[in-house]
Amino acid sequence: MTTPRDTDFTGPQSRFWHGGHIARTVALDAFSLMFPAAEAFMIRGARTAHERIEDPALRRAIAGFVRQETAHARLHSAYNHAMEGRGFDALGQEARNGETIAAFDKHIGTRRRVAASAGLEHFTALIAKRMLEDERVLAGAEPHYRDLWLWHAREEIEHKAVAFDVHAALFPRGAWLSRTRAMVTALLLLLTLYWWNVWRLAGDVTEQSRWRTVAGVAWFVLGPVGLFRSIAWPTLAYFRPGFHPDGSGARGGEATHLGSGEDRLGERPGAGGFQIGHRAA
Ligand SMILES: [Fe+2]
Ligand SMILES: [Fe+2]
Repeated sequence: MTTPRDTDFTGPQSRFWHGGHIARTVALDAFSLMFPAAEAFMIRGARTAHERIEDPALRRAIAGFVRQETAHARLHSAYNHAMEGRGFDALGQEARNGETIAAFDKHIGTRRRVAASAGLEHFTALIAKRMLEDERVLAGAEPHYRDLWLWHAREEIEHKAVAFDVHAALFPRGAWLSRTRAMVTALLLLLTLYWWNVWRLAGDVTEQSRWRTVAGVAWFVLGPVGLFRSIAWPTLAYFRPGFHPDGSGARGGEATHLGSGEDRLGERPGAGGFQIGHRAA
């Protein structure tokens, strides 16, 4: 279920907003670079599905999903513009992410698009759960960055089952094979984009060597904090026949309700600008 929220992204822009920590900042910035295009990819699948779904509850859930992902795309676009101001080639790399995702998208139909979305939603809900439950992930971050990541995390958990349910409703025959194959492809694409983004951002870090930054990111996602390591097994649960996202234990920590908002299905991600305020630090 999804909750409408108004959110903005304003505040000081330190070059390394994650408590001055270079690798942790790059580790999370690398995600942000892919979000505008990745959210647009999932919105596209959801809009097509909305035209074919008759169940009113699922139609409302799709509308809520689109509304939330549209806001995520906008806010992360603002985030990436701010990253440019922090001295990174963020917009160039965001565009390259977009071209890669568009090339992938061009060769698939609604079934694979929705199946890939369902898989990505499971993965992102697990990352989101870690962000909400383990304070070390965002410890020391500037408040507006912390707020943005936690807001995004909460909404990912709220709508984590929508794409899965849409896929199950539209393509009941061979659903397991369809969704698991798409999950493998989607995860490979996501992880490739992620490490590409890390590599490019690390090249813009002048304060230390590129390899030191990459190693620091690897330590952050695979070491004790283990943003990736800690979710490896739960990610594999997706391949279990009979799996459903609501059974994975990731749930929003606040009251939720279905929002209306089907009228906003036509909104384009990135349209209608969020202003980034630059208050003095
Ligand atoms: Fe999102
Ligand atoms: Fe999502």
